[in-house]
Amino acid sequence: MTFQLVGSGPEIYEKVMVPLWFGRWAEALVDKLSLQASENVLDVACGTGVTTRLAKSKVGPMGRVDGVDINAAMLAKAKEIADGLDIGWIESDVNDIGLPSASYDVILSQHGYHYFPDKPAALSEFRRLLSSGGRMAVSIWDGHSPYTHAICRAIERFVSPEIAEKQRSQRETPSTDELIAQLTSAGFSRVSVHRQELMIDVPLAEEFVPLHLGSMPIAGAFMALDDDAKQDLVNDVSKSLAAYVRGNRLVYPDAVNVALGYR
Ligand SMILES: C[S@@+](CC[C@H](N)C(=O)[O-])C[C@H]1O[C@@H](n2cnc3c(N)ncnc32)[C@H](O)[C@@H]1O
Repeated sequence: MTFQLVGSGPEIYEKVMVPLWFGRWAEALVDKLSLQASENVLDVACGTGVTTRLAKSKVGPMGRVDGVDINAAMLAKAKEIADGLDIGWIESDVNDIGLPSASYDVILSQHGYHYFPDKPAALSEFRRLLSSGGRMAVSIWDGHSPYTHAICRAIERFVSPEIAEKQRSQRETPSTDELIAQLTSAGFSRVSVHRQELMIDVPLAEEFVPLHLGSMPIAGAFMALDDDAKQDLVNDVSKSLAAYVRGNRLVYPDAVNVALGYR
């Protein structure tokens, strides 16, 4: 097997990871918010815009929808896909969005929280940006899935413990009590945390692992391995996940926590 990645990180993310992972969680998150026509929505750490586009489809032409992300390449892909949709795209760090207070009815953020450099400051900023009575939902992985556990272990063996730690930290998960405390101290009321579970269905490790890692911040470290080491890493993941093989697919459970609060 050769390990040539076709396309950039954002392209692989949108073509592979959005249909297999993020698009499915986007539906679950947006359902939780019960968006209404004409509401104004901000999607923070919007990436290639899967949740942003879905929000726009719910609030319709009279609702304003903006997506914020720190990564210009992810935003460029988001803009390209959303061509013709009336969505605003803002390149900014979550802690420095700089928009006027009380600009939005709803703020959502799917799988961005893990990357926020100052989580309490980000949550306070969300509250400032919400109008009175507005609501916010942040979805956060509920720890590791069998797949992410297997991949981190293989990265530790075949890349390095440091890179494995970087990958692992993307699933570091606060407890429900910690999440409730964080939202409450940021000033949110009626705070609740909802666990959502899905069975995730992806191609076998041989095909999926190079695509997944190619869309991740650690892509360079994986691509720098020689082909034998890459193959050993993939074989290690295959072996760990043998119990989850269904025909020519890997099917495994995964879960997120959606933290919800009101201004
Ligand atoms: C796993 S992706 C999730 C993207 C999108 N929400 C989705 O569900 O597909 C995480 C996103 O967080 C963005 N991000 C990371 N740090 C950020 C920061 N400090 N401020 C804003 N966005 C950030 C990344 O650029 C990336 O697009």
